[in-house]
Amino acid sequence: MKILVTGGAGYIGSHTVLALIEAGHEPIVVDNFCNSSEKSLKAVSRLAGKDVPCYRVDIRDREGLEKVFAEHTFDACIHFAGLKCVPESTRLPLKYYENNLAGSLTLFGVMAEHHCKNIIFSSSATVYGDPAIIPITEACPKGVTTNAYGETKSMLERILTDIQKADPEWNVVLLRYFNPIGAHRSGEIGEQPNGIPNNLMPYVTQVAVGKRECLSVYGNDYDTHDGTGVRDYIHVCDLADGHVKALSAIQKGCGTVVYNLGTGTGYSVLDVVKAFEKATGVSVPYAVRERRAGDIATCYSDPTKAERELGWKAKYNLEDMCRDAWRWQKNHPNGFDD
Ligand code: NAD
Ligand code: UD1
Repeated sequence: MKILVTGGAGYIGSHTVLALIEAGHEPIVVDNFCNSSEKSLKAVSRLAGKDVPCYRVDIRDREGLEKVFAEHTFDACIHFAGLKCVPESTRLPLKYYENNLAGSLTLFGVMAEHHCKNIIFSSSATVYGDPAIIPITEACPKGVTTNAYGETKSMLERILTDIQKADPEWNVVLLRYFNPIGAHRSGEIGEQPNGIPNNLMPYVTQVAVGKRECLSVYGNDYDTHDGTGVRDYIHVCDLADGHVKALSAIQKGCGTVVYNLGTGTGYSVLDVVKAFEKATGVSVPYAVRERRAGDIATCYSDPTKAERELGWKAKYNLEDMCRDAWRWQKNHPNGFDD
C-alpha cells in the first residue's frame, strides 16, 4: 500500500517507516522536523536500502498538504505528527491544541477531499486516565485526562470516531500505545529527546552514558510491589510492527476500531533500573524523590484484542528493550548529531 506517514521522521515514525518498507509497503513522509532530524530518515534509507520520499510540510499548512496529495494517491495515512511533551502541554496548552488539533483537522479535511479515508492514529494509554480496570482492556472507559497533551489524544479519538460515523467509507484505527522504549537493533535510529528527558528510559540511558548524574525515582510509596510506579513498556519495533498489522484491519473495512498496543506486563521503575543494569552491565545511580504530579500507580494493558484480531503480539522483553536503548545511546550520545 502507498501510505502517507505524518511525523515519519520522529521516534516511532522512523521505526514504522522502516517496518513498512520491510513489509513491502511504500511510505511517503510528511514532517516539519520540529522534533526530529532529517538524519533519521537517511538512517532508515540506509537500513532499508531504499530512499524514503519526504516532504518538509507542516500538517497545519493546507496548501502544502494539497501539493503532496496532488503528487500521490494514498491508500492510507498513519498519523504520528504531533507534540508530545506532557509538562510543556500544561505550560503551553494553546500550542498543543493548535498543533495537534488544528493540524489534524487540516489533515483529515485534505484526506477526505482526496478520497483517502483510511487512517491509523497514534493515541495513548493516557486516554484511560486513572484506569478503572487493570489490566486495561479496550472496553475500559476513557478517563479524565490531566493535561492538554492527553486531552488532544482523547479529542482526536472522538473527532475521528464522529467522522467515520458520519461517513462509513472511512476506516479508523485508534492505537493506544503504552510506554514505547528501546530502539532498532542496529543502534542507528532511536529516540532523541529535546533537553532534559521527561520519560524514564531516556533519562536512564543518559545517566548510564554520563550525561546526567542520577536518576530521580518519582515516589516509592505507591501501592505496587516495590512502591514505585508500574508501566507497560513496549519495544518500539514491536510497536512499529503493530502499525503494519493494523493495515490489515483497514483492508478488511474495520469502521472505527481501538487496539491497545502493549505487552500486558507491568514493570516498576526499579524493575527497569535492574533490567537495564543486567542487560548492559552499566550501573544507574538513583535517588528517591517526591511523586510527580499527575502520575498514577499502575498502568498496563490487556493486549489480547490486537493478538486475536490483528495477529499481533509483542516479541521483545524488557531486557531486549534496555539493551537496544543502550546501543542507540552509546553509539549516538547526542542523537543524530553524532
Ligand atoms: P516524535 O516527537 O519523535 O515524533 C513526532 C513527529 O511529528 C516529529 O518528527 C515532529 O517533527 C513531527 N511533527 C510534530 N508536529 C508537526 C506538524 N505540525 N507538522 C508536521 N510534522 C509535525 O514523537 P513519537 O514519540 O515518535 O510519537 C509519535 C506519535 O505517537 C505522537 O503523536 C505521540 O503523541 C504519540 N505517542 C507517543 C508516545 C511515546 O511515548 N513516545 C506514547 C503515546 C503516543
Ligand atoms: C508519560 C505521560 C503520558 C505519555 C507517556 C509517553 C505523564 C504524567 N504521562 O507517561 O501522558 O503518553 O509519558 O510519552 O507525564 N519516572 C521516574 N523518573 C523519571 C521519569 C519517570 O521515576 O525521571 C517514573 C514515572 O513516575 C512513572 C514511570 O517512571 O512511574 C514512567 O514514566 P514516563 O516514562 O514519564 O511515562 P508515563 O508517566 O507512564
